[in-house]
Amino acid sequence: MQFFILALATVLALTPRPTNATRTSLISRAHKIAVKHSTGLARDLRVAFAGILISDPQSSPSQKAYCVSPSSSTSSTSSSNSSSWAHPSSSVSGKASPTGTHSPSATPSAPPSPWQPIATYSGATFFNGWSFWNTADPTHGNVQYLSQTDAQNAGLAQINSAGNAVMRVDTTPTVSINRSSVRITTDLSFTEGLVIMDAVHMPTGCGTWPAFWSNGPNWPAGGEIDIIEGVNDYTNNQATIHTSDGCSLPTSSTSQLNIQGTVVGGTNCAADETGNQGCGVRSFSNTTFGSGFNSIGGGVYAMLWQNSGIQIFFFPRGSIPSDIAAGAPQPNNWSAPMANWPSTDCNMSSHFYNHSVIFDTTLCGDWAGSAWTGSGTPGQEQSCAQLTGYSTCAAFVQNSGSSFSDAYWEVSSMQIYQYQS
Ligand SMILES: *[C@@H]1O[C@H](CO)[C@@H](O)[C@H](O)[C@H]1NC(C)=O
Ligand SMILES: *[C@@H]1O[C@H](CO)[C@@H](O)[C@H](O)[C@H]1NC(C)=O
Ligand SMILES: *[C@@H]1O[C@H](CO)[C@@H](O)[C@H](O)[C@H]1NC(C)=O
Ligand SMILES: *[C@@H]1O[C@H](CO)[C@@H](O)[C@H](O)[C@H]1NC(C)=O
Ligand SMILES: *[C@@H]1O[C@H](CO)[C@@H](O)[C@H](O)[C@H]1NC(C)=O
Ligand SMILES: *[C@@H]1O[C@H](CO)[C@@H](O)[C@H](O)[C@H]1NC(C)=O
Repeated sequence: MQFFILALATVLALTPRPTNATRTSLISRAHKIAVKHSTGLARDLRVAFAGILISDPQSSPSQKAYCVSPSSSTSSTSSSNSSSWAHPSSSVSGKASPTGTHSPSATPSAPPSPWQPIATYSGATFFNGWSFWNTADPTHGNVQYLSQTDAQNAGLAQINSAGNAVMRVDTTPTVSINRSSVRITTDLSFTEGLVIMDAVHMPTGCGTWPAFWSNGPNWPAGGEIDIIEGVNDYTNNQATIHTSDGCSLPTSSTSQLNIQGTVVGGTNCAADETGNQGCGVRSFSNTTFGSGFNSIGGGVYAMLWQNSGIQIFFFPRGSIPSDIAAGAPQPNNWSAPMANWPSTDCNMSSHFYNHSVIFDTTLCGDWAGSAWTGSGTPGQEQSCAQLTGYSTCAAFVQNSGSSFSDAYWEVSSMQIYQYQS
């Protein structure tokens, strides 16, 4: 991993503003170096470039790299009876032992659901079953990710009085380089399933780059699903998949995909073939991300991953289906998804497997930093450079701690379900 970061940093440093063509070859080169140097490392070391969709071809380098540390936590997820619920074509690994923790279950009045929870993260035990990333940010942000102990001692990871999990960025007025932040990954990994996450607030504001996503091993081989992602003052979510070669969208047509969003970037989802652009979809709605999301008290995101394809759904607070509230999800009964990647031209089982779920908030870095002077994306009518008076994202982060008081996740619950036929 260290080799990989150095290799990527080096090729980027040598070519500060690569064109699309050179960016593709740089990514490919850096990835080859990464693969080469990863061979002797731990088997479950995960290396990823995650994606940023850049509609402006003149934009800055868009690569980012994600590493997931080997799962070493001994904490367990609050799961009831995981193995017996695994779908025949699904699999689960990790420490999902029954703990007796209550999982939301169907109320007597809710129709039974074939989707059963294999893990529940909520309330006082929300942080059980996650590993805290505490080394350098692979996406080159101005953050110092803290261990669980350090994050809790600093008040950056806590359960608030409402029983929600809060993950914050440090608001100390000035810092020398990096601000403290939090990045967590589930110890549980799974193949196919339904992830349902309810948040009342998410990080927003100039300099921020929050993400809620899932990732498989040996990136891009195991695939990456970005459920919630965006930067700075954006208000419209951008969901993206990144894959190994041989996976594409059959069309970029909103109506044919039956989505509530626009395909941005291309239809080839293969990271190595597109400079890691991925297949991204930007929501039509300005309440799906950032301050727009927060203005309505957030809502529920659902990521449905089946052999037939992957969909992302968003339900604003106040429009959350009763089956979700009852813990007995009926995805077949939901309205059109925000994003949809059918299996038509993408074999799901060969491109996506063994995912862990991740929350993070980085600052600046490969996307928020490069988009600092950009405008025109929904929510970002003026650039952050104009809005803040700082010519660089890094200088703003170093000198404007109070500006990050809204840079926090407040999550009510996250559940992972699998299909029980
Ligand atoms: C798990 O499910 C099996 C089969 O439905 C059942 O017999 C068993 O009691 C369950 N175990 C727990 C811990 O719920
Ligand atoms: C995926 O998970 C399964 C079940 O835990 C495991 O047997 C397999 O080796 C994993 N595959 C990879 C590539 O990590
Ligand atoms: C700041 O964070 C970056 C990762 O984004 C890391 O490479 C760098 O070493 C950090 N700097 C300091 C002084 O900790
Ligand atoms: C969303 O867009 C509508 C107009 O399309 C506007 O009236 C509203 O203020 C916007 N809301 C947010 C949170 O940006
Ligand atoms: C589907 O939704 C309708 C209302 O929109 C509801 O009446 C019906 O019970 C739901 N079906 C299931 C299986 O949840
Ligand atoms: C999809 O990939 C899996 C795993 O590699 C393979 O077993 C299966 O035959 C493939 N399906 C099709 C339709 O090619």
